[in-house]
Amino acid sequence: MKNKSIQVSSILKSGLLKPVKLGAVAILCGALLFSCSSSEGEGSAEASQQEAGLAHQAAEAPVADDGKGVGPVKEVTVGAEVDQALASTGQAIFEGKCAACHQLSDQKVVGPGLAGVTENRKPEWVMNMIINPEEMTKKDPTAKKLLAEHLTQMTNQNVDENDARAILEFLRKNDQSI
Ligand code: HEC
Repeated sequence: MKNKSIQVSSILKSGLLKPVKLGAVAILCGALLFSCSSSEGEGSAEASQQEAGLAHQAAEAPVADDGKGVGPVKEVTVGAEVDQALASTGQAIFEGKCAACHQLSDQKVVGPGLAGVTENRKPEWVMNMIINPEEMTKKDPTAKKLLAEHLTQMTNQNVDENDARAILEFLRKNDQSI
């Protein structure tokens, strides 16, 4: 800057600059100053305002917990009576993919005992937990608490929606027989 002002004043002294050009230089300098101050001052104030706005949205973003969990299952209809055929399909899958970590009583092994689970949770929640355990323990408040208690992430057992529905029926049978 020092050099420049020396240059400008020496140009002035030498009388080479006409007043019009001088005006243009003044406007240019002004514009430079303004752009500097706006990026440091107003600009960042605006950015932090935007950040604050986003943070505000993020805090409000999660929808109220409807107890159905997070995953592909939005609505399940269950009958008043247990569908025995479906339940025995579910039992076979349960024994192959779940029994290593879950008892049907209230006893914990790796995961919680599953007695009463169909009474304590909505059927959609149970199915979403079976199909989508990793996302559930990240986003669903109930599943988050379970992870905090059991300190082991339930593994995704690659159960599709039909199989999850059959397991649900088996867990319903388990709960109705208690
Ligand atoms: C590697 C062990 C493991 C396997 C295998 C496993 N789970 Fe889990 N499960 C857990 C753990 C641990 C939790 C508690 C949440 C967490 O920490 O991820 C849990 C939670 C659950 C819950 C919620 C229980 C409650 O109290 O609300 C259900 C339902 C469930 N599992 C069903 C199943 C079914 C059905 C299978 C088989 C398809 C299965 N799990 C396979 C470990 C396992």
